[in-house]
Amino acid sequence: MNIFIDTADLAEIREACSWGVVDGLTTNPSLIRKAVDARQEEDLEIPKYIEDICRLVHGPVSLEVISLDADAMVSEAIALYERFNPPNQNVVIKIPVNTNNETDGAPDFEGLKAIRRLAELAIPVNATLIMTPEQALLSAKAGARYVSPFMGRVDDFERSSAGTQADGPTVLAGVKLLEEIAQIFQAYSFECSIIAASVRHIQHIRAAELAGVQIATIPFAILREMVRHPKTVEGVKRFSDDVVPQYASLFSSVQSQ
Ligand code: E4P
Repeated sequence: MNIFIDTADLAEIREACSWGVVDGLTTNPSLIRKAVDARQEEDLEIPKYIEDICRLVHGPVSLEVISLDADAMVSEAIALYERFNPPNQNVVIKIPVNTNNETDGAPDFEGLKAIRRLAELAIPVNATLIMTPEQALLSAKAGARYVSPFMGRVDDFERSSAGTQADGPTVLAGVKLLEEIAQIFQAYSFECSIIAASVRHIQHIRAAELAGVQIATIPFAILREMVRHPKTVEGVKRFSDDVVPQYASLFSSVQSQ
């Protein structure tokens, strides 16, 4: 399974890339806002910042459009692609599957129209905000290269619909969504990869692995959790305690360097 990092924080990206496990990256306007807010004193130059991200990551980098109608989304997608794709040939455009926010009067099919037109221009699309297998199916048919089912937000929706406070891996709506999309895509041989998104805990990642999805996009904090275990901590302590001087002397030359 490929691992993408779900962040726009350059320090996190640099660190995770140094571990050799990052195959790509996803951003969205909220993640960009978080990175900007965290660097208020720096007067961030966003084009340069995003270009640095695209250069650093050796793999697909998803950048999201902000408009709600197809024409504007396609124009924004082309602008993003032309500006940031050249250095590393790795930009993917994120298009919400449906931009109808029930306030600005956008119809339900602008996302699909934009996906279709970008596919015709050979600009790769990551269809985002996928909450149902049907949205994933329509996105794939319209020509999306990736679909991003939002596991955590579907869990949130189930919790709020049920009026329950339960959290963590006890709510399985996101897992079910992922499994169903994986099954459907396999049955119809779509050439569209699934990115398990809105990952909130390790069980989401385990479910993605077991469902055979191609990619999970993972926040930095959860990547760190993936490498931790109390018995690993205990084991490291015990090995350190058990080092005898005769064994330590093997390393005296390298330690002094
Ligand atoms: C990834 O593409 C999404 O932008 C991200 O996973 C959303 O995660 P969230 O629901 O935790 O904001």
